[in-house]
Amino acid sequence: MKKFRRHLITSALPYANGPIHIGHLAGVYVPSDIYTRYLRLRGKEVIHVCGSDEHGVPITIKARQEGLTPRQVVDRYHELNKTSFEKFGISFDIYSRTSNATHYETASEIFKKLYDKGEFIEKTTPQYYDEEAQHFLADRYIQGTCPHCSNESAYGDQCEKCGTSLNATDLINPRSTISGSTPVMRDTRHWFLPLDKYAPFLKKWIEDKKKEWKANVYGQCKSWLDQGLQPRAVSRDLDWGVPVPLENATGKVLYVWFDAPIGYISATKELTPDWENYWKDPGTRMIHFIGKDNIVFHCIVFPSVLHAGGSYILPDNVPANEFMNLENNKISTSRNWAVWLHEYLEEFPGKQDVLRYVLCANAPETKDSDFTWKDFQTRNNNELVAIYGNFVNRAIVLTNNYFEGNVPERGEMNEYDLKVLEEMPKIRQNLENSLDQFRFRDALKEAMNLARLGNKYLADTEPWIIFKTDPNRVQTILNIALQICASLSVITEPFLPHSAGRLKQFLNISGIPWDRAGDRELIPPRHVIGKGELLFAKITDQEIDRQLNKLIAIRKMNEKVSAGLLPVKKNISYEDFSVLDIRIGTITKAEKVAKAKKLLKLTIDTGLDSRTVVSGIAEHFDPLTLAGRQVSVLVNLEPRKIRGIESQGMILMAEDAEGKLVFVSPGEKIANGSVVK
Ligand code: 2FM
Ligand code: ZN
Repeated sequence: MKKFRRHLITSALPYANGPIHIGHLAGVYVPSDIYTRYLRLRGKEVIHVCGSDEHGVPITIKARQEGLTPRQVVDRYHELNKTSFEKFGISFDIYSRTSNATHYETASEIFKKLYDKGEFIEKTTPQYYDEEAQHFLADRYIQGTCPHCSNESAYGDQCEKCGTSLNATDLINPRSTISGSTPVMRDTRHWFLPLDKYAPFLKKWIEDKKKEWKANVYGQCKSWLDQGLQPRAVSRDLDWGVPVPLENATGKVLYVWFDAPIGYISATKELTPDWENYWKDPGTRMIHFIGKDNIVFHCIVFPSVLHAGGSYILPDNVPANEFMNLENNKISTSRNWAVWLHEYLEEFPGKQDVLRYVLCANAPETKDSDFTWKDFQTRNNNELVAIYGNFVNRAIVLTNNYFEGNVPERGEMNEYDLKVLEEMPKIRQNLENSLDQFRFRDALKEAMNLARLGNKYLADTEPWIIFKTDPNRVQTILNIALQICASLSVITEPFLPHSAGRLKQFLNISGIPWDRAGDRELIPPRHVIGKGELLFAKITDQEIDRQLNKLIAIRKMNEKVSAGLLPVKKNISYEDFSVLDIRIGTITKAEKVAKAKKLLKLTIDTGLDSRTVVSGIAEHFDPLTLAGRQVSVLVNLEPRKIRGIESQGMILMAEDAEGKLVFVSPGEKIANGSVVK
């Protein structure tokens, strides 16, 4: 392989319109982090760049749905996602964002450069336009009847019922989702990147890479090239994005897939004044970590932009992964079928390495893989706890018990000892071979083989049994075991950075270079180690059941939604909402209504008055527990008689798919009469 001076690792910029889930982590960020940490440990010059992808139509749609500006949406998710990555130890050198000034400048400059070189084709084409909202409509902003399955709510790019990809013009009775009006066709001008012109160059480049690239990546590229490339528009009519930097281009922005990969360049610029060496010196090895849906953009479109730009390097490799499913179903943000990182962090505090381990062990490297909570538990309990943790704990505890924490001298060694010592550097070698080929699952297996070797060595030699009769032999055994522990703390660092760090603390060691992992003399005799703690803890059946129950509830909710039982109601205006007078009140008294199984009679201090509300919650709450509780009350609901009692309002409740009811209460105490708005 060619020798490179430096490495530039990029991880796909996640869209800032939702939180990060395990699929993202397994497909992109765990492998890119392992690889970067590995290169750093080997003393390579390397930077790892990432950030939020903050443009594109889905972000504007989300903003519209939530009554926010796109800026508010991206600010929220940028912070959330940045924090999740940090907590999982994904060690980016920079986590930037595509809405910042450096990125706007960089993306505009690159567009302008290509424009000035005459690379773009300018074309005017008809496109749907909403005359009422005075807005061109991206395909996602148009709904209508699917020509294949008659679903009346198909989108202009896809029918979600039958899964067919559509063009907006395929829809029967199209309507704008902004105003509800029927869109008209209007001419609009855009700039197209002539991919067909770059095809010969791309073909040659990709054929050259064929041997080193993963088969799934090469396969997708080849099929795109074989189908014949067409010019692709790199601008859109939208009011959120990098404005097209030309005269007379008001209302036009760069297409998100044109500007997003340029985000890698902007992030590098922000990180280091040396950025040009990273992007223009052929001595730099650039690697893009992405998921399979991003292959065409990173292997065809972005390389075309870099090539047309004239002075940039191209990626050396694009080790794209397939997808990870969750409990046999496709992960889906809209159906909430995912394990979200910010939730995992709350529910499994301190267990980031467990998830990193499971996602790497089961990474969708060559085909889609499936995450199940049972497998998560088994891998934790039977591998991390029973092998890695058990071995390390035994070695540390025995050294403390028998030698007061001093690393003992090694005496004469037998064949088994020598075999174990010989095995250690081989394991590191195998691990390196796997990582060099982006085979992360195999690499992790090798790392665990070292723990397995150590665990078996102690189980076979049983120092706790022979200590009384042969303490000298135990010295040798524990010395060897501790050398294995030290190597383990080095070679597992890319995979399990938190645990490897703790192990180093237990052993009281630091600064061991990667290349020395596998050595026989990593910790010298008489070095004093610490007391240590358990590295990993068992995960109980209850913890797993809680997660499975959560998924069952989500599935039931989704089933109800698709059966039309929980229809998403049609949009209302703020004025419609503001006719509701909802106040915070405190329940002062609660009693059963005679002969009515479901009803409670509640007395509520609403801050305005003390009033009676009859509520159908008797089967869910014991009236004796309710006094003092703050709730939300709809106070201007027409009073009505229920079982002879006048009910003056309604208590707001939330109900999940299984019919569980909870009060909609303020997050902290607030004066009665406070307005909910
Ligand atoms: O698929 C995605 O989540 C995109 N936001 C990835 C962009 S990668 C790069 F081009 F920025
Ligand atoms: Zn359809």
